[in-house]
Amino acid sequence: MTNSENSPRSRSKDTSKTAVLVATIRAVHLRWHDPPHIFEDTFAMHMLTPFWHAVAKYRPLKWLVGDVILGVYRPVYPAVVLRSRYTEDQLVEAIESGTKQYVILGAGHDTFALRRKDLADKVRVFEVDHPATQDVKRQRILKANGSIPDNLTFVPVDFEVDRLDEEMEKAGFNSQKPAFYSWLGVTYYLTPEAIRDTLDRVAQKSAPGSRIVFDFKIAKHMMTQEWRTLCEKMEGFVARRGEPMLTDFTPQSLSDMMARHGYTEVEMMPPEEQQRRYLGDRTDIEPTAFFHFAQFSLEPPSEEDAE
Ligand SMILES: C[S@@+](CC[C@H](N)C(=O)[O-])C[C@H]1O[C@@H](n2cnc3c(N)ncnc32)[C@H](O)[C@@H]1O
Repeated sequence: MTNSENSPRSRSKDTSKTAVLVATIRAVHLRWHDPPHIFEDTFAMHMLTPFWHAVAKYRPLKWLVGDVILGVYRPVYPAVVLRSRYTEDQLVEAIESGTKQYVILGAGHDTFALRRKDLADKVRVFEVDHPATQDVKRQRILKANGSIPDNLTFVPVDFEVDRLDEEMEKAGFNSQKPAFYSWLGVTYYLTPEAIRDTLDRVAQKSAPGSRIVFDFKIAKHMMTQEWRTLCEKMEGFVARRGEPMLTDFTPQSLSDMMARHGYTEVEMMPPEEQQRRYLGDRTDIEPTAFFHFAQFSLEPPSEEDAE
């Protein structure tokens, strides 16, 4: 795990630029990629700024900006749709098994509550993010949807400074009932301290049977030279937009940390497994080598622990 100074976005008044970028990647995937789509974010277009909306909408602009000016980052795009697909597959299974709370940590412009109105009676959605990003999102939802979905609650939290558990409680989260958490595109922007603190607060305030899915950036020494060069470029790109990447893991260091915080490993999804499960023989999309996904659960205490 790397360490670093506190995130400069703490208490930030800026809205997240990376949140708009990844929503643009989902919008472009649905509009321009050949089917079958990995992930169908039918509301992503509505979450974009006018500039990124135009990029996603018009093929020449999409080509110029996405494939030429930012073309070097194309290998990073697949991680954005693959991680959402994996998460929502797992989430739907959890809802079918009776989980009624979905907490989206660092929600950005995630549109689950807008897309899955069919699940509105079955699951309450809590979106956790910087207040500035949530203000913009609220306006975009109102414009696109006319109202905020009844089952959606915004929980303004800065992971670096606020107490997640207190804010969740104020928002009506029921810590006696299991929840499903996602934490996509966020861990690498946080300090190790904020990651550990968030995991502790989730573990302390979640009922047994709760689950968490997230993606993480692997340590540089695990990357090929080619991916490492791209990763460093990407880090520079997001840092220049005020969102430096601060933390990475090896699968082993992640597992060890999660165990120390009381989590049980359910599944690790390295790129090979992403390929096997979602891409098969497809060659037009290649998983991003340095983003792995992981799923952990909070299990009921064993009989031995209870003694
Ligand atoms: C790359 S975006 C991902 C958004 C969303 N999860 C997705 O996959 O579309 C990163 C998100 O993490 C949020 N974030 C980063 N650092 C944060 C912090 N310290 N506290 C709260 N949110 C944070 C940003 O505001 C942004 O919405």
